[in-house]
Order: sequence, then C-alpha cells, then structure tokens
Amino acid sequence: MKEVDVQIRRARGVEDYQKIVELEKQVWGYADPADLAAVPILMIANRFGGAVLVAEGPAQRLIGFAMANLGRRSQEKLFWWSHMTAVAQEYQNRGVGLRLKLRQREEALAEGIDEIHWTFDPLQALNAHFNLHKLGVIVREYEENVYGHSTSRLHQGLPTDRFVAEWRLKADRAKSTGSDQVLLEIPANINELRRTDILSAKTWQDRIREACQSYFAAGYVVTDFVEGHYILEKE
Ligand SMILES: CC(C)(COP(=O)(O)OP(=O)(O)OC[C@H]1O[C@@H](n2cnc3c(N)ncnc32)[C@H](O)[C@@H]1OP(=O)(O)O)[C@@H](O)C(=O)NCCC(=O)NCCS
Repeated sequence: MKEVDVQIRRARGVEDYQKIVELEKQVWGYADPADLAAVPILMIANRFGGAVLVAEGPAQRLIGFAMANLGRRSQEKLFWWSHMTAVAQEYQNRGVGLRLKLRQREEALAEGIDEIHWTFDPLQALNAHFNLHKLGVIVREYEENVYGHSTSRLHQGLPTDRFVAEWRLKADRAKSTGSDQVLLEIPANINELRRTDILSAKTWQDRIREACQSYFAAGYVVTDFVEGHYILEKE
C-alpha cells in the first residue's frame, strides 16, 4: 500500500490533546475512561520534559500520535518513557508509525536524551517486528501484569504481561554474534487466538513468560524478531 502524505509535528494545545484521546479510544477500544491517557496528562508530558507528537494526514486529520514523558530510575540517567504510540487503523502499515518514532528520536536527542523506553505485549507479532526489527530496540526485562485488567480489546482475556523495550538512540543495532542464540517462537496472530482459544493463548503466554524470565536471569537479551521468532543472545 502506498505511503501516506503525512506531517509530523509537536501537539500544540487542548484541541490536539482532545483528538488524541479520541484516537486512543478508537485504536485500543478502551471502554473505561480510567484506561486513557487524558488531556491534562498529555499536556503535562508535552510541556514538562517529554513530547507529544501528532501525525496529520490528508485534510489535516489527526491519524497518529506518540506520547513520551521524562523518566528516571533511582540514581540513573534521565530517559524518555514512551507511554503510547498509535496510528488510526485505516492508516496502519504505511510507515506513519515509523515516521512518528523517528521524529520522537530526533526530539529526544535535541533534549539531550539518548534512551527511550516503553512496554509492549511480547505476544503481539506486529509490535515485536516494529520495535525489534524496524527500530532496533533491545529487551532485557519482562514484567508481569503491568497494567492489571484493562478494557482494551487488544488486551482482553490475558494478564497484561509486558516486555520493556530499550531504544538506545546513539547505538548501532545490537550486532548478532551467531553463537549462543536462542529462538523463541510466538503465535502468528494472538488476537485471533485469544478470541477462538483462550486456553491456548494463555499457554503461549505462560511459556514465553517462563522462558524469558529464565533467559533474562541468565544474562540474555532479546535483540531481534525474525519470521515469528524472538532472537535472544548473551549481552
Ligand atoms: C504499532 C503501530 C503504532 C505501528 O504503526 P504503523 O504506522 O502501522 O507502523 P509502520 O507502517 O511504520 O510499520 C508497521 C510494520 O509492522 C508490520 N506488521 C503489520 N502487521 C504485522 C503482523 N501481524 N506481524 C508482524 N509484522 C506486522 C508491517 O508490515 C510493517 O513492517 P514493514 O515496514 O517491515 O513491512 C500501530 O500498528 C498501532 O497503532 N498499533 C496499535 C496500538 C499499539 O499497539 N501501539 C504500540 C504499543 S503502545
């Protein structure tokens, strides 16, 4: 499908934030407003150390956004925590998400930030491909049921287990050494599986959780996602 004519820019004010909240509802299908990143939160992130970016498509329609706030773990350097990135369904897979993340990278570097972190569901092949293969993040952490129960149709039926992605903005993609690699397969379409066979979906989640937790404890990191398999290597 052809690329979209899109402008990426910083969000400018309440009207942009309101449109973003509408997009959050559409993309994730949240039924409970408590699951949303609401207008004041977006405003605070954009004004005080992070960035809210929007993608404007044809007729200036807001078709995507990326929101990051300033983060710090105790005694460590500052980074950006990218809480949400989304593209309207009818514009997905046309490079808009990549454009948003590349602009987020530029904005972070301009602020003296060289790492952006976020979480994603390890069972979602799309996110695995986008984050690991296209952007080149690494993953060293697995967190169980991070957001508790959520009303998103993308999350239903399973605990919200998440990988923590680390995007090192100045580093080359982690180089594959070829030795001591572990391959971990995930299902081709977890959303479909969750609808049709929730027990099997849960079995996949348990298997990936257990494998990742033990490999991470042994010093492995996830460095890529190729043909439905995570690639883990010793750091
Ligand atoms: C994740 C998201 C922001 C990406 O935006 P996008 O505009 O579709 O991204 P791009 O077009 O730049 O890249 C998407 C890539 O995923 C690939 N992809 C799509 N469906 C896939 C699937 N089921 N399995 C593997 N890869 C898939 C596309 O082919 C494309 O890769 P390619 O360029 O190598 O072909 C968007 O899909 C989205 O809003 N998803 C729902 C919300 C979400 O999960 N947000 C991220 C977590 S906060």
